[in-house]
Amino acid sequence: MTHHPFIEKFRQAGQAQVFAFWEQLSAAERASLIAQAGEIDLAEVDRLFRSLVAKSAGQAGVSLEGLTPPPCERLPEHGGDAAAWAKARAAGEAALRGGHVAAFTVAGGQGTRLGYDGPKGTFAVTPVSGKSLFQVFAEKIAAAGRRYGRPLHWFIMTSHANHEQTEGFFRDHKFFGLDHARVHFFRQGRMPAVDFSGKILLEDKAAIALSPDGHGGSLRALHRSGALDLMKSEGVTTLSYFQVDNPLVRCVDPAFLGFHLLRQSEMSSKMVPKAYPEEKVGLFCQRGDALVVVEYSDMPMAMQRETNADGSLRYGAGNIAIHVLDREFARRLAAGGEGVALPFHRADKKIATIDAAGRAVRPDQPNGVKFELFVFDALPFARNPVLIETARADDFSPVKNAEGVDSPKTSREDQLRQFARWFKAAGASLPVDASGLPALALEVSPLFGYDTETFVESWRKLAPPPQPRDGLYLE
Ligand code: UD1
Repeated sequence: MTHHPFIEKFRQAGQAQVFAFWEQLSAAERASLIAQAGEIDLAEVDRLFRSLVAKSAGQAGVSLEGLTPPPCERLPEHGGDAAAWAKARAAGEAALRGGHVAAFTVAGGQGTRLGYDGPKGTFAVTPVSGKSLFQVFAEKIAAAGRRYGRPLHWFIMTSHANHEQTEGFFRDHKFFGLDHARVHFFRQGRMPAVDFSGKILLEDKAAIALSPDGHGGSLRALHRSGALDLMKSEGVTTLSYFQVDNPLVRCVDPAFLGFHLLRQSEMSSKMVPKAYPEEKVGLFCQRGDALVVVEYSDMPMAMQRETNADGSLRYGAGNIAIHVLDREFARRLAAGGEGVALPFHRADKKIATIDAAGRAVRPDQPNGVKFELFVFDALPFARNPVLIETARADDFSPVKNAEGVDSPKTSREDQLRQFARWFKAAGASLPVDASGLPALALEVSPLFGYDTETFVESWRKLAPPPQPRDGLYLE
């Protein structure tokens, strides 16, 4: 057998099967397998297997000890302090004018549930012109840059699987008018899948079964890619984090940024009141001084149904995966070290692999475990975390499933409802049904308006304003 230091290292770690087909591989295949092996931290894999897989048959239980509902900055219309919101907004606007904020999109997920073959950000979501998620964000970011007189940097985390396609998509669309020097792509890390006895699985004879390390891997990837250094040299202190699946998101929200900055928080989050107890969103909770997110699957249904005296849900602060992060906080967590590392989570999956004879195995039951990091696990490490409420209708309508809840249809309808509200605020009459859904398919480009205020400003400049009609597109 040809010797390579990695083969010996893997053999000593009990992972010799990774190189079982070495003798049959071409030189190029060997080089690629070695490169993949080089991504793996064997000690980390061993530790994760021991702590998350070997120890228990299921997920290491999430402790529900000492959880209480978290303090939250309520919207003024729900009893929040309007003056505090105004002050926060002014502080956020100042940070945007100063060029201290960058947008950050995590777009490394596999999008399996949507059943779309391509990077999710390239999926068409808008009701009339069929813009992609990436274009919607690009236009919101361009519009905010114009409004505050400082074009924003935009960081986009991709995966190994979708990196080239994502970059190509932006090139093909001329970066949607953004300065390409301000759009930065970087790949997230990968973790190997292991079987239930801790052996690293092969995808085929020349490839390890590697998968993205979760959106929590974004902190390590920001650091490793040099993004944090670039931010520092550009005077960016604060990252506005959002997921690629949510076209309604305010990519940069001055009030949210302002609360974060004024409280000198290291990481802040937005919540929406859960729509119903069974809604599948993570839940913000307080444990001691720390803000934590407990996944819906980890909280017993009886607890999720608990109510306050006024009938509202006791644990009703839903995580919509919109956060603000301090740059140096991200660096500290990325560096890891004693007591400040994000924990890995275990997910049992059906993993396409090969057997000892090299034949393809396509299991119909979970045959192994993937390890993932979640970004919200950074919250308990953050100084002064701030949780604010946001209106679901103006911040959250993700595209996750092909049909039903959180699908292209529901998201398109929520966009239409938002456009209709803006028309109404500008004084234009538009027939809507009881849910606020207009009968017309119309669309507003974020370059025309991306919230009520910017829409109304642009609308007033139109002389005469157009009559709302089917297919109307405002840009
Ligand atoms: C997530 C949250 C949930 C929240 C919901 C809101 C988790 C575990 N749960 O659920 O608390 O209520 O969003 O929409 O996150 N991604 C990467 N790399 C990865 C994995 C994911 O970049 O390795 C990105 C995806 O591209 C996507 C986002 O992270 O933008 C969400 O990932 P997904 O796995 O779909 O999370 P959800 O289960 O929807």
